[in-house]
Amino acid sequence: MSPTNPDGPLRLGVNIDHVATVRNARGTDYPDPVKAALLAEQAGADGITAHLREDRRHIVDDDIARLAAQISVPLNLEMAAIPEMQAIALQHGPNAVCLVPERRAERTTEGGLDVAGDSARLRGFIAPLAAAGCRISLFVAPEPAQIDAAAAIGADIVELHTGAYCDLHLEGRLKARDAELDRIRAMAGHAADAGLEVHAGHGLTYDTVAPIAAMTQIAELNIGHFLIAEALFRGLGGAIAEMRQCMDAARAPS
Ligand code: PXP
Repeated sequence: MSPTNPDGPLRLGVNIDHVATVRNARGTDYPDPVKAALLAEQAGADGITAHLREDRRHIVDDDIARLAAQISVPLNLEMAAIPEMQAIALQHGPNAVCLVPERRAERTTEGGLDVAGDSARLRGFIAPLAAAGCRISLFVAPEPAQIDAAAAIGADIVELHTGAYCDLHLEGRLKARDAELDRIRAMAGHAADAGLEVHAGHGLTYDTVAPIAAMTQIAELNIGHFLIAEALFRGLGGAIAEMRQCMDAARAPS
């Protein structure tokens, strides 16, 4: 298991789910998400993120086994907080487990995990994973109650949901977008003050990444759909390199 580096520069976790989406659309064995992960690693990804959904719509169990065996950067396994996924995580020992809410009908992860409303169950759910050495990350909306609950149950990390911010940007609702950014900024500070490592992700693109990357409390961004889409036009290495440049430029002291 590779260590992470919370005090280092802003890390980029590349989510390779949608390579598997394309593969599964035809039931072929290509494109291979593990091949994409190894390429992403070469292109400078600091970690690989994969979401094993209950319905296996993209990543499947064998992908997780091969990722765990083959990549040399940390593996962040996104999953629902259900016993089936807990057993899989314990079997493969990813560097981190990121718990997300999951609804079958959703197109992608909508909203954050309700840690505040489910804290007793989640505390018990994460205990064996933490004992096995997995870092525990909880994907939450940028709300104080969720962050406080994450700290209270002993999570290592909160990943702040940037989906609402990115949607508002796409819809051109700039005042609301900027208010959401202020909320994320305040909650990144709140989480760091609570002793949590702060990650962020969902929906980020070259156009939306800079204000998030500029938040110095944030240690890691997890980005998938846009990078895989952009890879169609410029290759995965090129897409990742440009995202890195956007992140580094935003983080550089002015
Ligand atoms: N972080 C979490 C917790 C997610 O669920 C996802 C989507 O799987 C991402 C980051 C990446 O989002 P996107 O694919 O929109 O970049």
